[in-house]
Amino acid sequence: MTETIVKLADLVKPAAVAAPFVLSDEERHEIEHELSHYPDSRAASIEALKIVQKHRGWVSDEAIPVIAAAINISAADLEGVATFYNLIFRRPVGRHVIKVCDSISCHLTGYEELRDGLIEHLGVRLGGTTPDNRFTLLPICCLGACDRGATLMIDDDLHGPVEPAQIKALLEAYP
Ligand code: FES
Repeated sequence: MTETIVKLADLVKPAAVAAPFVLSDEERHEIEHELSHYPDSRAASIEALKIVQKHRGWVSDEAIPVIAAAINISAADLEGVATFYNLIFRRPVGRHVIKVCDSISCHLTGYEELRDGLIEHLGVRLGGTTPDNRFTLLPICCLGACDRGATLMIDDDLHGPVEPAQIKALLEAYP
């Protein structure tokens, strides 16, 4: 199957969405809790972004200045962190994000078969989200488990080695 040119980077580019953004009480409380662990609030910026992503699935452009104000850094600085850290999603994703490793070791241990099996099972291309908003499928570089290829992550769970025949049962654990 021909590999698409949709990449993780396409999803981490800021999207043009105009909506007012307000941190929930829970988000604000969790961010303040993280801040208490860091002497420099800048060091808490990734955690603050992760907190918002955990609650909303992604981090909109409108969220950046609000989060930045909450941790007392500039919006430009936080934008830089969000852009650099490619697991902060800047566009909406499905309830579960599948990241399939496309680096060299996994290429040698079944990446293409696994990728094609996922594409066929989900009915979406790389970068796509299923119509029921359940899964987003993304390629990603080395997951640091090269001895377990072919590997993938679903949300924060690392799986490997994964054979195409295991895809259906594996995904059933993520409703
Ligand atoms: S190359 Fe796939 S986990 Fe390292």
